Amino acid sequence: MTGSIRFFGLCVLGLCILLGHADAGASRGCGKALNPRLKKGGTGQSNKINITTSKGVKRTFLLHFPDNYDENRPHGLIFSFHGRTRDGAQQESLSKMSESSKNPHMLVVYPDGIDNQWQGDPAATTDDVGFTLDMINALEAQYCIDPDQIFAAGQSNGGGFSANILACDSVASQRIAAFAGVSGAYYQGTSDANCDANTVHIKCKPGRKNVPVIEFHGKKDETIPYDGGKRRNRCLPYIPHFMTAWAQRNGLSTRPTNTSLHSGHVQKMEWGNGSTKGINTHYAIDNMPHTWPGDSKYYVNATPLIMDFFEKWTLATTPSARTASYSSSMNAPAPICPYKNGQQYWSSGKNFRISCSADTPNTPAYTGATMPGSFAACIAECAAEAQCGHAVYYYDRCWKKKGRPSYIARAGDFARVAVKN
Ligand SMILES: *[C@@H]1O[C@H](CO)[C@@H](O)[C@H](O)[C@H]1NC(C)=O
Ligand SMILES: *[C@@H]1O[C@H](CO)[C@@H](O)[C@H](O)[C@H]1NC(C)=O
Ligand SMILES: *[C@@H]1O[C@H](CO)[C@@H](O)[C@H](O)[C@H]1NC(C)=O
Repeated sequence: MTGSIRFFGLCVLGLCILLGHADAGASRGCGKALNPRLKKGGTGQSNKINITTSKGVKRTFLLHFPDNYDENRPHGLIFSFHGRTRDGAQQESLSKMSESSKNPHMLVVYPDGIDNQWQGDPAATTDDVGFTLDMINALEAQYCIDPDQIFAAGQSNGGGFSANILACDSVASQRIAAFAGVSGAYYQGTSDANCDANTVHIKCKPGRKNVPVIEFHGKKDETIPYDGGKRRNRCLPYIPHFMTAWAQRNGLSTRPTNTSLHSGHVQKMEWGNGSTKGINTHYAIDNMPHTWPGDSKYYVNATPLIMDFFEKWTLATTPSARTASYSSSMNAPAPICPYKNGQQYWSSGKNFRISCSADTPNTPAYTGATMPGSFAACIAECAAEAQCGHAVYYYDRCWKKKGRPSYIARAGDFARVAVKN
């Protein structure tokens, strides 16, 4: 696969549409030459980028391009979130994700938190999930990224933001394939009243099943204790409880497979079995304080293990289960999203709602499929309806999507998509 993109502009009945067919896993930025002012290379070579979010907030991040960045080849993209009081540059030094020996070919974003902290911290009031989604959209539009391979990792507050806030968000969990938390702060609740670290409810509503999460935590963590408990008027979970809750949400056995490593100083716990083995993985590390294990000081190097985990758990390897099966009188297979992941599907008689990975769940989606006889006629129907943002033509049926004018056409593996410009 070369990652080439083919787009055909077409105007029918005065409506200009884009019939997109991209090879699987190529973002809109593929084919765009890199601005020569942008630097490639290791730690310290990353580019400071300014962005105004869709809510009008000015934010900054460091952007790393690997030496082998090629605008015609889709690359993975990693977000690496700093700990509280730190910034993106410090996170680059700590996680070493810009080093080609650890990460040879993925882009890395090291965002800067407002007041050096992230959503999920008791003191934070920012919409960092929205910021992250804005960054994904902006980066996919500008650079050659594989939308199947977008990942998030973070340290401490940044680990909590990655493995608890983003991974638990109904939208972000469908755009980001896998998550890593290192010494993560997984604050729960709005107070520390009745805090039981072994049972505290973990607030989490991911938009897909099979959410891959890897976690590293030191048994001597003095800041975010392994055993959890009260902190800053919140409740921190016992780390195995936090991970077991992930296994439960993913429908896995809550009893992990344990492997003793480094003469028993590291316990690796893996939830899942068969094709899901290790989709939730935790490293419990003896003697390790509140840090990011690297260079073998604390037995394991987190970054290469995280990279291996990310390489394995792409969106393509963890398609989400459908929430309902097709059972109406339409006599056709269930309609399929233009892209294979993040699909949720409800049916009730002849009304359907499908939300695809790029959509906000529960907003009006596709309704009232018709049988216009051809893709062109489907487009014409969409054109005739002011509310129709785009249409999917699948098994001779025309699924009209209401109220989303700027849909991004993705890999057209099943359906053909008409997008209004
Ligand atoms: C980015 O924003 C900072 C302030 O946050 C400013 O100092 C800098 O000049 C801006 N850089 C660019 C390239 O606009
Ligand atoms: C995996 O499956 C085997 C046999 O089917 C079972 O004995 C084991 O407990 C399972 N492990 C996990 C972690 O679910
Ligand atoms: C693995 O370790 C955890 C935490 O100590 C424990 O709860 C679990 O029962 C162990 N799993 C097995 C299969 O022994």
